[in-house]
Amino acid sequence: MQAVIQDRYGTPDVLRLGELPEPVPADDEILLRVRAVSLNGSDRENLTGRPAYARWSNGLRRPRHPVPGSDVAGVVAGVGSAVTEYAVGDELFGELAGYRGGLAELVCTRPDLLARKPGGLSFAEASTIPQAGGIARRATADVRPGDRVLVNGAGGAGGVFVVALAKHAGAEVTAVDRADKTDFLREIGADRTIDFTTQDWADERDSFDLIVDLVAHRSPLRVHRALPRGGRYAMVGGLARILLSTAIAGPLVGRATGKRVGVLVVPQSRAELEAVTALVAQGAVTPRIDHVYPLRDAPAAFARLAAGESRGKLVLEVSEADSR
Ligand SMILES: NC(=O)c1ccc[n+]([C@@H]2O[C@H](COP(=O)([O-])OP(=O)(O)OC[C@H]3O[C@@H](n4cnc5c(N)ncnc54)[C@H](OP(=O)(O)O)[C@@H]3O)[C@@H](O)[C@H]2O)c1
Repeated sequence: MQAVIQDRYGTPDVLRLGELPEPVPADDEILLRVRAVSLNGSDRENLTGRPAYARWSNGLRRPRHPVPGSDVAGVVAGVGSAVTEYAVGDELFGELAGYRGGLAELVCTRPDLLARKPGGLSFAEASTIPQAGGIARRATADVRPGDRVLVNGAGGAGGVFVVALAKHAGAEVTAVDRADKTDFLREIGADRTIDFTTQDWADERDSFDLIVDLVAHRSPLRVHRALPRGGRYAMVGGLARILLSTAIAGPLVGRATGKRVGVLVVPQSRAELEAVTALVAQGAVTPRIDHVYPLRDAPAAFARLAAGESRGKLVLEVSEADSR
């Protein structure tokens, strides 16, 4: 089968299209014929091996799994003997364990990480949902009308979903990203925008009931000041040392200040996926696609991801067939 192969960490030009043996599903796995894969910040991290946590699970010196790609939509091509919930021909989508393996014609995965693709969505649209939607649903689950929500890294894959779901919950949303994304951030619903290259939101005091930080690089001692008592800071991604300090010191800072400061860990499951899919069906968030590439153009798609040029998701179509 054709697959995108990554033998080492680096820039998009380390990716090459090659041939790999077709995988065979274990008894508890399904074999998915991949139709579309959307890219997330985690794919860029797994390409470069930075931040350091990308290597903790993925291989310290080189990627253990040679095929990148996490968020897939496709058609069941085979099932293991213990799989009862899905059958050959079912159209499914979801996030792969370890965020690897999607950029191939076929991938084996656990059925409990996949859900049925809504009929109204193309494979490309469905592939945009799993990781970004899961982050956003968890991050905004407690948002109440009138809450002041700041999204740091709002113009990226997860941020776009967080802004949309926070708005849907009735929040007043401040979106932080580069100045050239201001129009895009307004378009997706932000009430206020901050250009992080000229202004530091962490200088504000008691200003946000919830901060969702997708690109964390400030210590818990610094970020909590932007929250009032009862406010919450949720780190989703960012520097590895900030991940550690937020996980360890965040709860202590929170206890001492009457706030909640910590790392948001988003579980992968069919229930999570179905909950996000229901929000998409309600119109709370709409999949946004910046560009669709054929599989052979994976280096170009990753280059656009790395350059921060996309406004919405980048999608790779894996099979030659129409993606609907
Ligand atoms: N906690 C969990 O369970 C979980 C699960 C999955 C993924 N994650 C993590 O979630 C994180 C975010 O993912 P994503 O897909 O949303 O990433 P993304 O698509 O790369 O988006 C990040 C956005 O932040 C912008 N940005 C860069 N530096 C910034 C700064 N200093 N201040 C504000 N904005 C800045 C980027 O702009 P440019 O592109 O222009 O630089 C981009 O628009 C990743 O680190 C991923 O590993 C966490």
